[in-house]
Amino acid sequence: MALCAFYAVWCLLLEVAIAFGPVPRITWEHKEVQLIHFNESKVSNYSTLLLSEDKNVLYVGAREVIFALNAVNIAEKQHELHWKVTEDKRTKCAVKGKSEQTECRNYVRVLQQLNDTFLYVCGTNAFQPTCDYLNLISFELGGKNEDGKGRCPFDPAQSYTSVMVDEELYSGTSYNFLGSEPIISRHSHQSPLRTEYAIPWLNEPNFVFADVIRADPNSTDGEDDKIYFFFTEVSVEYEFVGKLMIPRIARVCKRDQGGLRTLQKKWTSFLKARLICTIPDKNLIFNVINDVFILKSPTLKEPVIYGVFTPQLNNVGLSAVCAYNLSTVEEVFSKGKYMQSATVEQSHTKWVRYNGEIPNPRPGACINNEARASNYMSSLNLPDKTLQFVKDHPLMDDSVTPMGDRPRLVKRDVKYTQIVVDRVRALNGTIYDVMFIGTDRGALHKAISYENGMHIIEETQLFPNFEPVQTLLLSSKTGRRYLFAGSNSGVVQSPVAFCDKYTTCVDCVLARDPYCSWKPLEASCIDIFKESEMERNWIQNIGGDASSCSVCSAQPPEKNGGTSTVTCD
Ligand SMILES: *[C@@H]1O[C@H](CO)[C@@H](O)[C@H](O)[C@H]1NC(C)=O
Ligand SMILES: *[C@@H]1O[C@H](CO)[C@@H](O)[C@H](O)[C@H]1NC(C)=O
Repeated sequence: MALCAFYAVWCLLLEVAIAFGPVPRITWEHKEVQLIHFNESKVSNYSTLLLSEDKNVLYVGAREVIFALNAVNIAEKQHELHWKVTEDKRTKCAVKGKSEQTECRNYVRVLQQLNDTFLYVCGTNAFQPTCDYLNLISFELGGKNEDGKGRCPFDPAQSYTSVMVDEELYSGTSYNFLGSEPIISRHSHQSPLRTEYAIPWLNEPNFVFADVIRADPNSTDGEDDKIYFFFTEVSVEYEFVGKLMIPRIARVCKRDQGGLRTLQKKWTSFLKARLICTIPDKNLIFNVINDVFILKSPTLKEPVIYGVFTPQLNNVGLSAVCAYNLSTVEEVFSKGKYMQSATVEQSHTKWVRYNGEIPNPRPGACINNEARASNYMSSLNLPDKTLQFVKDHPLMDDSVTPMGDRPRLVKRDVKYTQIVVDRVRALNGTIYDVMFIGTDRGALHKAISYENGMHIIEETQLFPNFEPVQTLLLSSKTGRRYLFAGSNSGVVQSPVAFCDKYTTCVDCVLARDPYCSWKPLEASCIDIFKESEMERNWIQNIGGDASSCSVCSAQPPEKNGGTSTVTCD
């Protein structure tokens, strides 16, 4: 197995690292570019962001406050709502040994669109997680004060993720005060479900992301929509001195109803697998996943999953981006081998590949047409054998390998924390997936990868005080593309490109930025997505060939015509 060589890896890291990483072609200092800031005095921890593209609103969950900002200009605040912990709760929390000034406050952790009128919101509420409905018209809470256990962490320092799918909230968080009981759950009035509390299901996970991938509406197999979770957890399958971390992808089916006797009110479709992000010939293993973005685009055959990774012992500061296509993931879950624990000696268990017979219907599979044809109309009908098997074997033996079998990007001297990806069509029609990656020092890298390698177009210092980028969102509405980044001290809005910073044709073209093109007529570098139509004489070359610049020259307006002309040989 690849991890056998783990020991040697730490020593190798230093040597190999030296050779790595493209350098950003240009760096924009914080003051050099036009960014829009939002923060208010006495408010901190702006870590939860939600974008409503239809309404053009950015919702921000901070410590004890929720804001609604104009997404075209976040300096324009539309609403604010204070959501404070009562004096009584704060005192009780402090008695339990938590800090009254910091931990015993309400950190907003869930902000999800329930429907047109309501957001579903949860906060840590002095270690008594609470959820409520935020009316978007009055911008007031409904006062429901639902128990938020299993949907929102108790401790603001703990990891969490959530996604709203058809008005049901799916979350990955911890279920108790101590934070020792991890859970992936669905909050639903009809059929709430959760993971088994058992090490093989979740072992000290650090949740980073969750999203839904809808079944292909044109497919005839009647597959279900699936919700994917991403986290790093402590390995059960590899022997290692100390805790070895493993990046995981897990998934559940939307129509899962739990089992009737076995796995009652538990997922019958919970399966997880290891995500691989390594450079095989260099023996480099990136085994901590920090964030994920799932690129879904009409121009893509299938969604692509982008993850940012770091090694567990990251003393040299290495980061990588790996991309996975959905079919590889589905293949592992629907056809892969399972792992099985075996007791060796007395108390010691070892995980090995299960080679025995697999019950039918396949354990962990969603109910599809094939299952329905055999009269399994819902997970409640599934036979005990299938359920017992998935209960004992939630971990796949096969791993999910990245596209191209290696990272899209490897960079040293940086820790990547967040990623979003925009899919853009360059002037010549070639499509690029532009990666925007946030760092733990408040910077943003914009990078593309193409056949001949990778290129970091620019680095932008989003936050002047070098604090980590905690949340990153992309608004990719045509003609209005922005990035929003949240941190402890505030929120920043940035355009996706700074084309007008390039003042010469050569500069503009050498940026190799798919958003930017030189417009000879105006002698300016423009953002092609802000123009109403594209013109043939614009100059762009993502390969970095600026020779077209020298042969085109703008002529001054002629006396009679009054318009400029451009001649290109
Ligand atoms: C909240 O922000 C402060 C800095 O303003 C930081 O020290 C603290 O760790 C943050 N707390 C959480 C839970 O993120
Ligand atoms: C998905 O990735 C695998 C492995 O890199 C590759 O064999 C397969 O062709 C890819 N599928 C698509 C549709 O790109």
